[in-house]
Amino acid sequence: MNTGLKARKTVEGLKEYHPPLGERDGLRLDFNENVGGCSPRVLAKLRSLSPEVLNKYPERYPGECAAAQFLGLKPEQVLLTNGVDEAIHLLAETYLESADEALIVVPTFSMYEIYALATAAKVITLQAGDNFAFPTETLLKQIGSQTKLICIANPNNPTGAAVAREELLKIVQDTPHAAVLIDEAYYDFYGDSLMDEVGRYENLFVARTFSKAYGLAGFRMGVLAGAEPQMRMVRRVSSPYNVNGVALECLPEALADQEFVSNYIEQVKRGRAALESFYRSNGIRYWPSQANFVLAHFGEYRKPFVEEMRRRGILVRDRNSDPGCEGCVRITLGTEEQTARLLRELPEALKTIGFQQQRFTEVTR
Ligand SMILES: Cc1ncc(COP(=O)(O)O)c(C=O)c1O
Repeated sequence: MNTGLKARKTVEGLKEYHPPLGERDGLRLDFNENVGGCSPRVLAKLRSLSPEVLNKYPERYPGECAAAQFLGLKPEQVLLTNGVDEAIHLLAETYLESADEALIVVPTFSMYEIYALATAAKVITLQAGDNFAFPTETLLKQIGSQTKLICIANPNNPTGAAVAREELLKIVQDTPHAAVLIDEAYYDFYGDSLMDEVGRYENLFVARTFSKAYGLAGFRMGVLAGAEPQMRMVRRVSSPYNVNGVALECLPEALADQEFVSNYIEQVKRGRAALESFYRSNGIRYWPSQANFVLAHFGEYRKPFVEEMRRRGILVRDRNSDPGCEGCVRITLGTEEQTARLLRELPEALKTIGFQQQRFTEVTR
């Protein structure tokens, strides 16, 4: 039946984003999730919840007070969101008109482009430099009066590269008319942050997520922080019930169990060093990472490698179609045992596919 109903032109032109969610049986080292689970304190809270949590509309403000206190901010500077995904969506909806431009350095997280394009704004993508270096000077030159949104993942996904604080601040200072989002989804595995600058610049926004180090991707909880007057604007676009009640009830427990988080971070960092060392000693080109994953170049072996790892029960992510990532595969690090399993299977998988060492120059950052 054709009713003649048509989506907006910009929506019809959008690419569909299909994360490979089906058939994810196995050790999931493909999504940058915390594959070790979440805090037992969160699980205990979850089991103790009363039915009221489900039948009443969720109250976001107490959660925002808890998150603000944790981040050293005022509750008015903080908005809890349905993952960082929603934070990006809200910024695009708040700041982009159809004649505006959003600036993105690729390869990066796909949702910046999708949400910006959905507003009918123009998206300018700049390719990262050699070894995925952030092209600060090129980006600064590209900024014009129509630039209204700049999204930067720091550290970046899928490269694991981080941008120095001074460079980020220069972008923020040079673009007072544009919202600059520093997406710190992988902050916990890196350690440097612009959160302490929130409120100092009206155009700076910093986002964090509970999906990675905290192991709560299924809760869909993120934090968007920014200057109070701008956050008032963003709140206008947000649903008052964007964050679900179950996640809100568990949030204080998640924040309180820093022992769980730091223990996991340490395991990931040790795993990251071990994987990078494996790549080095096997002549596989990789990019030093500040996140919970490492991107490496398998060239023509990429496809058989991903398939062979799947056959061995380990899912890794083919990033071949990301700009500048031809032949690349991204592997997420998890717990100590999971890394041990990964490092047992990796050489076997490479042997099975007949992998030949490549010659490359080591990347230093
Ligand atoms: C850079 C970056 N930002 C945001 C997200 C999404 O985070 P959330 O689960 O909080 O929506 C991801 C997920 O992969 C990511 O890589």
